[in-house]
Amino acid sequence: SVADYQGLKRGNLKLGVVTTAKYIAPELLGEYGLMFPGIQLAMNVTNRDKIIDRIKRYDDDLYVMGLVPEDEVSVTCNYFAPNPLVVLAPSSHRLCHAQGISLEEIAKEPFLLREPGSGTREAIMRLCRERNLKLNVRMELGSNEAIKHGIVGGLGISVLSLHSLVLEGVSGMISVLDVEGFPIMRKWYLVYPKEKTLSLPAQRFIEFSVDREDAITKRLAGIWPKLSEYVDGS
Ligand code: PGA
Repeated sequence: SVADYQGLKRGNLKLGVVTTAKYIAPELLGEYGLMFPGIQLAMNVTNRDKIIDRIKRYDDDLYVMGLVPEDEVSVTCNYFAPNPLVVLAPSSHRLCHAQGISLEEIAKEPFLLREPGSGTREAIMRLCRERNLKLNVRMELGSNEAIKHGIVGGLGISVLSLHSLVLEGVSGMISVLDVEGFPIMRKWYLVYPKEKTLSLPAQRFIEFSVDREDAITKRLAGIWPKLSEYVDGS
């Protein structure tokens, strides 16, 4: 309740987030900032390896990640939102109106792949290994934004988080293909070092984010209604 939050008049909250989480963390911070205007906010966006270094050094209060560290560092994690990965193509692509496209067919298409160390890349590579498929990689690109523009430019198709399209939607220049095995339903977690005592602002941010799960899921389903078939209760 609002009364519980009265103790949060001043303080700091520093987040460290993996690259794809930049599509979700700032908006959460924005809403949180409206509730607690006295809290100084900061956010660092970098790749997963560097985030793990930051966790080890206690650089930030909380981290947003998809693939929780296991051996690297001991952490506590809280699930707060889905992270569906979808197959994206230019809206002029011949497969845009096809249904139940096979993974074999996708593997033949020129593909734009994220850089080593990317969680998105890891998820698509794992699926291909399981199915004994080799992607037809046209190019590696180190950013979701570069991949989106590469798709529009006709360089190839790709697999990205649906969160990366939350501002423009999927009815413009980029479309979601209907492919078997997709979406890959990944998850977002708020993570912190196991032995660390959380600050009050960090504790509240976790509670606040976990409460947003429904709203975040609905927003994603708003841009791509088919998501409703893959998430509970929406
Ligand atoms: P990214 O995404 O490393 O591909 O940016 C994070 C994740 O999904 O784990």
